[in-house]
Amino acid sequence: MNDDKFEKDFETTGHSWDGIEEYNKPLPRWWVWVFYLTIIWAIGYSIAYPAWPMLQRATPGLLAFSTRAEVAAEIAAVDEANAAINAQLVATELTEISANVELNTYAANAGRAVFLTWCAQCHGSGAAGAKGYPNLLDDDWLWGGDIQAVHESVSYGIRNEQSDMARWSEMPAFGEILEATEIDQVVNYVMSLSGDPKDASLVDAGAVVFADNCSACHADDATGDRFQGAPNLKDAIWLFGGDFDTLKATVTDSRFGVMPAWEGRLSQAEIRAVSAYVHQLGGGE
Ligand code: HEC
Ligand code: HEC
Repeated sequence: MNDDKFEKDFETTGHSWDGIEEYNKPLPRWWVWVFYLTIIWAIGYSIAYPAWPMLQRATPGLLAFSTRAEVAAEIAAVDEANAAINAQLVATELTEISANVELNTYAANAGRAVFLTWCAQCHGSGAAGAKGYPNLLDDDWLWGGDIQAVHESVSYGIRNEQSDMARWSEMPAFGEILEATEIDQVVNYVMSLSGDPKDASLVDAGAVVFADNCSACHADDATGDRFQGAPNLKDAIWLFGGDFDTLKATVTDSRFGVMPAWEGRLSQAEIRAVSAYVHQLGGGE
């Protein structure tokens, strides 16, 4: 038990339990001092910076440091730097924006940022759209593709409850109006306008159904009516889809595409910038 070798090499504290002794091996001095320093530093830090969780928020710290306030200050600085050009954007006629190179470049860049933040989730980051969400790159417009029409669509939105000025129209659900055979006929007629019908023998009868039920909105020649947001049915560009089953579903149950209003949520400068951006994407008129 009391091995000579160990007794020689190490000092003990003198404590002994059942003959087991406790060595005296203190921590190195430098280690202890570093340890004390970290404690002092932690106390200082928690006084100077936000640290202790309280009921509502953490203690603010004497330096009143806050990353949130820093971001707010940065945003305010950018807003201030852009105040003049934003004011110019709001004061300029929509149709004149593209003539002013500096203003136009600013609008396109600012508009792109707005688009990626607020529009991309529905229209796609490249604005190519998806089923039910129109492609904004092409020159096929439901409601109009000149800058004023785009600005109106963006400001008030479409078929929403948020704005009294929202664009509005409603295609009836023909499942309650037409016989199933008539729906098959008119769907084949619509397919024949831009490609091959599923059943060519129904096309002629479908033309009659179309003239009686659809032409008031989609026009006699089926090229659509922007005043009502009724799509062109001849151009082989489909918002919801051009195959037989999708068209049958559209005619039977109707569609009700909703786009939010942005007036009030975005500033007028932001709405104008994003409208100019969309207008420049390629399909602008
Ligand atoms: C919640 C989804 C959603 C968001 C977000 C959204 N849109 Fe739309 N947008 C739609 C839908 C759906 C339509 C088509 C409505 C219809 O069927 O007529 C549309 C239509 C449009 C049109 C009219 C297209 C045409 O052919 O006439 C424009 C322009 C437009 N959006 C621009 C924007 C811009 C700019 C933003 C961002 C500020 C935006 N949208 C955000 C869903 C959205
Ligand atoms: C009261 C006006 C109105 C009438 C009548 C009407 N439509 Fe429509 N139609 C619309 C509108 C508005 C839309 C766009 C709906 C949307 O964007 O949500 C639409 C959309 C469609 C689409 C979708 C096109 C696409 O690109 O995906 C098809 C197909 C269609 N209509 C066919 C018909 C047929 C066939 C009839 C007659 C049986 C008809 N419509 C009658 C207003 C009308």
